Amino acid sequence: DSIDPEADGAYDFVVVANRLPVDADVAEDGSPTWKRAPGGLVTALAPIMRANDGAWVGWPGKPDVTLEPFDADGMHLVPVDLSEQDVELYYEGFSNGTLWPLLHDAVVDPVFHRAWWNAYVRVNRRFAKEAAKVAAKEATVWIQDYQLLLVPTMLRALRPDLRIGFFLHIPFPPPEIFAQLPWRKQILDGLLGADLIGTQRTSDAGNIQRSVRRLTEWTTRGQVVTIGSRWTRPERHVRIAAFPISIDTTGITEVAQRPEVIERAKEIRRDLGDPDTVLLGVDRLDYTKGIRHRLKAFGELLHDGRLVVPEVTLVQVASPSRENVDSYKQLRDEVEVTVGRINGDHGSLGRAAIHYMHHSYPLEEMVALYLAADVMLVTALRDGMNLVAKEYVAARVDLDGVLVLSEFAGAADELAQALIINPHDIDGMKRAITEAIDMRPKERRRRMRSLRRRVVDNDVQQWAKNFLGTLNAGPSRTSHV
Ligand code: G6P
Repeated sequence: DSIDPEADGAYDFVVVANRLPVDADVAEDGSPTWKRAPGGLVTALAPIMRANDGAWVGWPGKPDVTLEPFDADGMHLVPVDLSEQDVELYYEGFSNGTLWPLLHDAVVDPVFHRAWWNAYVRVNRRFAKEAAKVAAKEATVWIQDYQLLLVPTMLRALRPDLRIGFFLHIPFPPPEIFAQLPWRKQILDGLLGADLIGTQRTSDAGNIQRSVRRLTEWTTRGQVVTIGSRWTRPERHVRIAAFPISIDTTGITEVAQRPEVIERAKEIRRDLGDPDTVLLGVDRLDYTKGIRHRLKAFGELLHDGRLVVPEVTLVQVASPSRENVDSYKQLRDEVEVTVGRINGDHGSLGRAAIHYMHHSYPLEEMVALYLAADVMLVTALRDGMNLVAKEYVAARVDLDGVLVLSEFAGAADELAQALIINPHDIDGMKRAITEAIDMRPKERRRRMRSLRRRVVDNDVQQWAKNFLGTLNAGPSRTSHV
């Protein structure tokens, strides 16, 4: 695809995210190229952008790729160039070595480095400046996720006329954990530049409120934080509330009904040797996903003789992620040693206990895997939402299949008809897996029908509508100053 370069204009709706919704690159002849990146967020936002003069500010995903703003897929894209050093300090460092583990309840130790923090401030300022340049007067700007927590206040300082929303896709921990961060006050002050802060779960919103009460001078009441006081007018109000994200349910349902995808699902089962039961795990290879706990439970079930290969097999798709970050390298080694050990102990020629793939796949193949799987295992130790759980449910138009779901994934708030587990309780997880395998068809249908209703009623389009509706219903910036 080619690019129509266009001068920066005035855009009424601006999305700011660490990544652009396309994989952008420069071809050998110097011309820019792009391909739409997969993901629910862009599926939900693209139509809103097209209808509302939208622009998207983000990083093309590779270091040192300098691109002029361009139009693609009906959206105006504004690339933010990150140098190799920015990627190391801001992205791999502060975003994924400090904030990611800290905000996931410190399930691995967060690392604190002043040089990482300085780079985070610097890069956040760059995103804020780009957003300030493209936004029209009184435009709505929607900032996404933990990589950009300082952008709301930086942007408000540059452009007080804007309506600013922020959505945190990952969890927010209790103040006792968040307080470890040397820059906790700066992060909260940065975030509170937004008019509306959205979280995945009500508990995440409550945790932010508690941290604000404990670590800043501002007061809170219900969902609302008051910045300033009656004595230092003007006051400003920030609302913090849960808006659980979802998936493109219609899109996935459509893919799941394609004859070639249904045929592919059958072929997958044949390739696996027609087992009675196919278990499935699909995750980014991340320590928050509880992959080791899942392997432990599965390995013990084989060891106990409760499950037997080849009647049962586990397919584990682990898509590569953040491969330069130490904790991710270490996790990969641990997972791969464990898979090798379980296969060595319980597999035989042509009959692996675990089919492990360190790849990512296109959506069609994922949906075929969902359709091929009798039991889906989502065993996260902490997860903002977990869209894989919702995708599995959306794909099962046949109303078959059982979802085993961690209570520590945001999805558990809505998907109560799954078999809910605590992944730290290995015996409990083993019981849930055998219960899922033995579940009667009638019970499977009953549960899946109710689960599907949830993802049909709240899809990602509805999510974006709810958030933006709430953001835009607030008083305009200029009306009360
Ligand atoms: C999570 C985060 C996103 C992030 C994605 C992939 O879902 O909430 O902000 O984009 O993981 O991670 P990556 O580091 O590759 O962008």
